[in-house]
Amino acid sequence: MKQKLFDKFAELFGNSDGARFYFSPGRVNLIGEHTDYNGGHVFPCALTMGTYGAARKRDDRKIHFYSMNLDKFGVVEASLDDLTNKQEYNWANYPLGVVWAFDGRGYHLESGFDMVIWGNIPNGAGLSSSASLEVLTGVILTDLFGITDLSMTDLALIGQYSENNFNGCNCGIMDQFTVAMGKKDNAIFLDTNTMKYEYAPIKLDDAKIIITNSKVKHSLVDSAYNDRRQECTDALAALKTKLDISALGDLTPEEFEANKDLITDPVQLKRAKHAVYENQRTIDAVAALKDGDIAKFGELMNQSHISLRDDYEVSCGEIDILVDLAWKTPGVVGSRITGGGFGGCTVSIVKNEAVDAFITGLGSAYKEQVGHEAEFYTVDIGDGASRLA
Ligand code: GLA
Repeated sequence: MKQKLFDKFAELFGNSDGARFYFSPGRVNLIGEHTDYNGGHVFPCALTMGTYGAARKRDDRKIHFYSMNLDKFGVVEASLDDLTNKQEYNWANYPLGVVWAFDGRGYHLESGFDMVIWGNIPNGAGLSSSASLEVLTGVILTDLFGITDLSMTDLALIGQYSENNFNGCNCGIMDQFTVAMGKKDNAIFLDTNTMKYEYAPIKLDDAKIIITNSKVKHSLVDSAYNDRRQECTDALAALKTKLDISALGDLTPEEFEANKDLITDPVQLKRAKHAVYENQRTIDAVAALKDGDIAKFGELMNQSHISLRDDYEVSCGEIDILVDLAWKTPGVVGSRITGGGFGGCTVSIVKNEAVDAFITGLGSAYKEQVGHEAEFYTVDIGDGASRLA
């Protein structure tokens, strides 16, 4: 990979002398969906799939971005003197947004830089290709410009800030945090209210985690996402007229049930119910995992899907087909939609002996019902973003 990237770098920018090499993963969330902007818990892990980058400082104020996946955009040229989102920059608005966020925090880069990327995270599949790129950019900037006082958590927060304020999606912190802080063979149990986290080893001796890509992405994903977020904010405001809480994640399901009449809007009520119960499911799922009770973990994943489908309404027909097929397949411990929703991927835990039947069975039934193929990836949990040798 490095060679391919560096050859391209040399072709575009004369040579690759002094260019440095970086990697930033994608992520999959095992449970705890749409809880991260509600002060709840999440349980994601970093993937070995991700975004590779080669980068080098320039001696002028130009910034060049080139994606080997989206080569039709050619070299995108921006300038340190005009850090604004431009439609023609397309994908490069993600890394540029990070430069902008650094600048806003007082990290004014002394020069521009050239950056070439190539990634193997399927785009728009809900596996955080954008967070991967944001954190990659953060790592590149700190490394190239010798910025030593930003932690990986800071880079995650900067990535989220740029996505919220430069690219217009009000995402929570889960994706960038996972990409920055991922650890091989571990998932991250993060409390988004306090930002306290712990690593939990994922040792499934007799099962695999399989991601199934529906290969659909419904439009308006960002606006529907922002709507969900607003509905939760409104539900919280209604609860706060009586309760002293700062987030939906502060409530146990019992406290929620005792006070839910404060929320008069039926849609907001469903959204808040999901946020509260999903947070509890995530806590329970991590406890089950620690007890070695994978069956319970899977059952909680299934409940998570039902809640995301019926109360949070972020699933879609294609994803429900995949999940229903998975639930009917012997040897499937649990299966649910993962990520922001409205398409994208499911995540399933499948017993080793059932993996082949899962892939062929779901593969052909999905094709028959939906008309196109799904894609399957067996999860390998990798490390967070870093500079590579
Ligand atoms: C997207 C967002 C995350 C999170 C998930 C849903 O991936 O970027 O912050 O809210 O959706 O859990």
